[in-house]
Amino acid sequence: MGWYDADIERVIITEDELRAKVSELAKQVATDYESVDGLLLVCVLKGAVMFMADFSRALAAAGGPAVELEFMAVSSYGQGTTSSGVVRIIKDLDRDIAGKHVIVIEDIVDSGLTLSWLLRYLESRSAKSVDVVALFRKPDAIKVPVPVKYVGFDIPNEFVVGYGLDYSERYREVPFVGILHPDVYSR
Ligand code: PRP
Ligand code: MN
Ligand code: MG
Repeated sequence: MGWYDADIERVIITEDELRAKVSELAKQVATDYESVDGLLLVCVLKGAVMFMADFSRALAAAGGPAVELEFMAVSSYGQGTTSSGVVRIIKDLDRDIAGKHVIVIEDIVDSGLTLSWLLRYLESRSAKSVDVVALFRKPDAIKVPVPVKYVGFDIPNEFVVGYGLDYSERYREVPFVGILHPDVYSR
């Protein structure tokens, strides 16, 4: 229930489904990274902000290692609904990641352009290892193959909003993931 109700045509993934999946991903990562010292979670702002907040707490609850939280802001979409392929750094890492195990926290892999660029960037900064946790992936939209070790949901190639995902910077606070009514785009 919220101001956005009339704008949502269909709910794709409910709050409960999101919560269950985040906890399942956290359990996998907790197991795989059990003995790792110095784990850094890098959240890709802004879309991954909700996922970062929930995943980091779920990881601790699943018995995972201590983590440090880092944030990078990049943008490839601008105002539209399709990726431009041009990745801009809006906010860089605050600290040196050399020798650290890094996990990139992404909300969605669409064309793969943002992530493939980001992985090259993090490797050039001499991270000890880099893995990716992405909550959503659109298999039919992939333009560049990108190694994503942990994926929450594979979803159809439709424009989705909520749980961090925006349309023109709106709908990020919607607690589920859904599809907008077509008339929202023509406003
Ligand atoms: C979106 C999304 C991913 C990226 C995926 O971010 O959050 O980061 O696009 O698309 P790609 O696989 O085609 O590169 P966006 O650039 O819209 O910035 P935002 O996270 O601030 O919304
Ligand atoms: Mn993003
Ligand atoms: Mg966006």
